Amino acid sequence: MAKNLKLLIIAGARPNFMKIAPLIHAIQERPASGPGIDYKLVHTGQHYDAKMSEIFFGELGIPAPDINLEVGSGSHAEQTAHVMTRFEKICEAEKPDWVVVVGDVNSTMACTLVAAKMGIKVAHVEAGLRSFDRTMPEEINRIVTDSLADLLLTPSEDANEHLRREGIPEEKIRLVGNIMIDTLIQNLEKARGRDVLKSAGLGNEDFVYVTLHRPSNVDAEESLNGIMSELRRLSERMPVVFPMHPRTGKILSEFGISLNGSNGLLILEPVGYHDSLYLTEHARLVLTDSGGLQEESTYFRTPCLTLRPNTERPVTVDLGSNKLTSLPQLRDDIEEVLEGADRRGSVPPLWDGRTAGRTLEEIVQAS
Ligand code: UD1
Repeated sequence: MAKNLKLLIIAGARPNFMKIAPLIHAIQERPASGPGIDYKLVHTGQHYDAKMSEIFFGELGIPAPDINLEVGSGSHAEQTAHVMTRFEKICEAEKPDWVVVVGDVNSTMACTLVAAKMGIKVAHVEAGLRSFDRTMPEEINRIVTDSLADLLLTPSEDANEHLRREGIPEEKIRLVGNIMIDTLIQNLEKARGRDVLKSAGLGNEDFVYVTLHRPSNVDAEESLNGIMSELRRLSERMPVVFPMHPRTGKILSEFGISLNGSNGLLILEPVGYHDSLYLTEHARLVLTDSGGLQEESTYFRTPCLTLRPNTERPVTVDLGSNKLTSLPQLRDDIEEVLEGADRRGSVPPLWDGRTAGRTLEEIVQAS
């Protein structure tokens, strides 16, 4: 009998957890008749606060990690180096057939580098996304990961095109669809039962859902100050619900930016996945710099303004409900959304909840 395939599945930071959950469930549900798959889940520890990590394991039904590298925060070089030195030892001990990485965080790139140098095959889920903006750490992570991976599992045709243009051979590229949407569909019912608005003291009124954490928005005082004053202004018109990433919270207090006197601006601790889905589905407007929220808004057809000069997810703009904005444009763009229809755009192809199954089949085929 053929030996089972052995995968190490990597997760490091918050947006990774929604991408590994459906993969693990698909492995657990595989029929006994097909080739067997064994896996171990490796958490790098890039995100370590309970509200940035542990909560998602419970909500998404992800088993506790088999291995935690506990790398924590640091500069990009430090964080990447810590993941690499610790993950190399795991690969030596485990000898996997594949390392499966998702998304574009530092942990994704670090584990890919280690595996590639050890001659272990790498499968990258959500390959081929490009913002063409190398000031974003994620863009560097995407380019390095995709150039080394053996199997590039893409969410959309534009991603295939980027990879071809970078000279990646066609036989390594497989269009499988958007894995985040598998998780969204699997969790809709639970999300719809949440009462996050009530806990925040709100009823049925229109509200705006805000998330911001990108260095380009929150690391410079001028930009963060400008954004916060637009939010204060908006909150006089309707409540603004802003669960704050720890990075943004720390920087706000470092700059001494005050939140006093804005009753409608509701700053919360980071919320879990179900609350975030609930807020995205019911908001009048989502204002964000997150990659995942651009996609989730598009699925719900909730108008979304993305506070960035570019997006690696152009399908959310071309077909979906997303529009790019900037601080000088923000007030007008908000106005335009609030005057327009409360649903926009359409749901792109292969956002059908079956991406994890296709992903596993491709890994089996390529083995
Ligand atoms: C990382 C990813 C980004 C992703 C984001 C989602 C990279 C380069 N960036 O950014 O792509 O969109 O996660 O959240 O990999 N911190 C805590 N507790 C935590 C984690 C972080 O307090 O559990 C604070 C620390 O001060 C840390 C800072 O947030 O220094 C930044 O964390 P880091 O993991 O370096 O990057 P993110 O901004 O979270």
